[in-house]
Amino acid sequence: MNGQLKIFSGRSHPKLTQQICGILDVPVGRSSVIKFSNENMMVQIEENVRGDDVFVLQTSNPPVNEGLVELLITIDALKHASAGRITAVMPYFPYVRSDKKDKPRISITARLVADLLETAGADRVVTMDLHAAQIQGFFRIPVDHLQAVPIIADYLRQQDLSNAVLVAGDAGEAKEVGRYANRLNLPMAIIDKRRFGDDERAVPTHLIGDVEGKRAIIVDDEVATGGTLCEAAVFLKEQGAASVTAAFTHPVLSGSAVQRLDDSAIENVVFTDTIPLGDKSCSKFHVLGVANIFAKAIRRVHDGDSISELFR
Ligand code: R5P
Repeated sequence: MNGQLKIFSGRSHPKLTQQICGILDVPVGRSSVIKFSNENMMVQIEENVRGDDVFVLQTSNPPVNEGLVELLITIDALKHASAGRITAVMPYFPYVRSDKKDKPRISITARLVADLLETAGADRVVTMDLHAAQIQGFFRIPVDHLQAVPIIADYLRQQDLSNAVLVAGDAGEAKEVGRYANRLNLPMAIIDKRRFGDDERAVPTHLIGDVEGKRAIIVDDEVATGGTLCEAAVFLKEQGAASVTAAFTHPVLSGSAVQRLDDSAIENVVFTDTIPLGDKSCSKFHVLGVANIFAKAIRRVHDGDSISELFR
């Protein structure tokens, strides 16, 4: 793409933007945000972007709604500043779990967010491990859907995997876990979860596959409250797993998730930095950086090169 490569940062994850800019050797774009006493926000782009290929990074992190509005306003400001092309870089996509109408009279909010981004003026989106890959179809603009599997699989490969089995926490996660199984050449198992009443949570009831005496590695796209993961860990131990590791992309870690994971039977918890940890910490945590893969993706989008080659 003609025009200079420029990268601006929302306020949700400035460290990741700085790392990406460092790798690509471009300065972080200059912009400012003012919040008025009536809570209205104003974003000002403080440098010329006419005709430029502009990327704006904003992940979904509390305050989630404010971060989303800030991104929309930034895109609008860039549009009115005559940027040549605007790409929203969203490591963790807001409202990603709201991707279907699974209860009467509810919103499909991930679809609404897609519409809002397009209306604001985004020309493309770069994101990572959407809760369901078909969310890409909510957009009429191109979406580059990056995967954390190479990063997490490389980390796991450094460990003793001779007796390991990858575990999907439910049938919906099986396809993703299959990607890990292929890369690591490991067997996999699937937890069968059942719902016994309309309002009740699904609980693990059966296991498809074998974990007895093995190191079970649960793979998921995100951990929010930690409920799904900790329940799965208890179930796997009951099924005879020798140890349990958890590997996931997005550390939402809301509510008492950190304490819950600390208290759980899970020995090792590995995830990426698509969301900043802030002051959350636990000796079981291993955080893997995504800056490199995002930097490569941004460079490829700018140069018009293939993104899928990054994942072969
Ligand atoms: C659900 O389908 C997702 O893959 C995760 O398992 C879920 O978002 C985790 O949520 P929580 O940690 O609150 O149980």
